[in-house]
Amino acid sequence: MSPQEVRRVVTKGRAPRGGAAGGRRRFRLRRASAKDLPTLVRHRRLMWADIGSYPSASVEASDGPYLEWARRMMRERRLVAFVATSGGEVAGSGALWLREEQPRPGDNAGYAPYLLSMYTEPRYRRSGLATAIVKAAIEWSRARGYRKVELHASRDGRPVYEALGFERTWEMRAPLARAEPGRAAH
Ligand SMILES: CC(C)(COP(=O)(O)OP(=O)(O)OC[C@H]1O[C@@H](n2cnc3c(N)ncnc32)[C@H](O)[C@@H]1OP(=O)(O)O)[C@@H](O)C(=O)NCCC(=O)NCCS
Repeated sequence: MSPQEVRRVVTKGRAPRGGAAGGRRRFRLRRASAKDLPTLVRHRRLMWADIGSYPSASVEASDGPYLEWARRMMRERRLVAFVATSGGEVAGSGALWLREEQPRPGDNAGYAPYLLSMYTEPRYRRSGLATAIVKAAIEWSRARGYRKVELHASRDGRPVYEALGFERTWEMRAPLARAEPGRAAH
């Protein structure tokens, strides 16, 4: 395995929806580098498009700011992304962002891993790819002594995270501005 490779994954033998052949899928999972930023930005945009809560113009307009932010976070070692490939083709990705937190009783680490931008290319869906990425993210976090991993789940993502032990919490929010026209609740 190359130094960036996290693991090789052979998933369950089930035909992915809309995909080519069924049978087991082989993926390689590796840590992303700055060279993968265009892929991460593209997956982020496709994720928002699939979730469907923002108009497409606003989704596209966030590519540039997200690229700048992700590049800076990677440089500061606060963004750890995973890219899965199958036969050399990019099949999915996901990222952990080390989010700054206020110290609190029992947890004074200062940062907490937040999982974001999970995306599986449609032809590789339902073959265990997102599950493998989330497991790698949990392992990465546990190995560094973090006590939790947080995320905001889309409808498609919920069953993936629930199966891996994620639970709903009591975070709340007050919307202070009118929703963008065309934006659905998320
Ligand atoms: C959510 C997403 C990342 C899941 O990727 P995936 O690689 O297909 O997920 P997995 O194959 O690991 O799914 C594992 C299990 O989760 C459940 N699951 C996954 N997607 C599901 C869906 N759309 N509906 C119902 N259950 C689903 C199933 O139980 C599945 O196991 P099964 O296929 O044996 O039934 C993918 O659907 C996607 O990219 N969606 C669009 C973007 C998005 O919503 N990203 C998540 C943001 S939080």
